[in-house]
Amino acid sequence: MPLMQFNDKWLVGVAELDSQHEILLATINKLYGIALRREAIAALDGLVDDLASYVDLHCAYEEKLFTEADYPGAVRHKGEHDKLRRHIAQFAARPDKDLCLALDLLHVLKQWLTDHIMREDKAACAYLNTRGNF
Ligand SMILES: [Fe+2]
Ligand SMILES: [Fe+2]
Repeated sequence: MPLMQFNDKWLVGVAELDSQHEILLATINKLYGIALRREAIAALDGLVDDLASYVDLHCAYEEKLFTEADYPGAVRHKGEHDKLRRHIAQFAARPDKDLCLALDLLHVLKQWLTDHIMREDKAACAYLNTRGNF
């Protein structure tokens, strides 16, 4: 059973962002699978690096859309993205990574993504859709 299930409740109304969110959830589910199967920390490390890169790509993509559309909440929204980026970077840099810490990270990721996409991304995308056809 995956940690997070992508379905219609996640849709924010901007197709490219919906695709990216689906990839983010799939990456988190892969990480969860590794943690559950107690695979080598090396496998975890590689996937955390992939996750950090994808989170960065996704956040930068959203931030570019917000800047282009003069979204009034852009600075605050980027502040939330930066918190997530820092959290993942801090985990990636830990020399004592283990499965217990990985499960802590997954708990934070699940909570953060749920709150952020449902509240912040949906609000931002509602604004974007008033500014053009996404
Ligand atoms: Fe997002
Ligand atoms: Fe966002």
